[in-house]
Amino acid sequence: MINLLYYLDTASIDQIKRAFDLYPMSGVTTNPTIIARENTNFLGLLKEIREVIGTEKDLHVQVLSSTAEGMLEEARYLHEQIGGELYIKIPVTPQGIKAMKLLKKEGMNITATAIYTADQALMSAMAGADFVAPYVNRIDNISGNGVDVVSQIVTLLHNYGLDTMVLAASFKNIQQVHDVALCGGQSVTVNAEVMDGLLSHPLTDSSVTQFINDWENVYGKGKITNNL
Ligand code: G3P
Repeated sequence: MINLLYYLDTASIDQIKRAFDLYPMSGVTTNPTIIARENTNFLGLLKEIREVIGTEKDLHVQVLSSTAEGMLEEARYLHEQIGGELYIKIPVTPQGIKAMKLLKKEGMNITATAIYTADQALMSAMAGADFVAPYVNRIDNISGNGVDVVSQIVTLLHNYGLDTMVLAASFKNIQQVHDVALCGGQSVTVNAEVMDGLLSHPLTDSSVTQFINDWENVYGKGKITNNL
């Protein structure tokens, strides 16, 4: 069975708690900008996120080093400190690709990130990445087509029989998420607003209100199926 995996792209504990309570979430993704936004102790924050989501949900954390050796050291440190289903996010630079090859040999989970082209994604997959993260909205913003890039990646991964999955990122609207799902992207990471937006519809709200009004007109205010 193929699922669409939903990830929350945030380090806000409140947002994570709410989304994991309500929605079928697979994990949390972060990047240095997202972490810096919280302006708090880095390791403490990540440990708190791990505590909230549990050890079986995926947590994606990015390294900052510019050399493969530095990335490896950060990855080992993060593994030791955070644990659980941890994915080390590595940008698709030449040193990043080298780090992916080496980290794979150590059995670590890898998410290749900062992807703007299908070829970057393909090379990351060949280097051992478990996920590849194309930045849909940022591609749209440079007059590209983010969904087309995702679609090309899906095709390439399929053509070469690779198990690597797309983790489409950088969404600004619901249509982008919808189009990624239609073209076979296996997972999406979205902010809290987009996550809520995937569900919300004013006619759903008015239908629910109408049901309650019709029911209460007959059975009485506050009555529900198990207290008639
Ligand atoms: O984590 C990478 C990606 O989600 C960035 O999104 O909104 O900063 O373009 P955004």
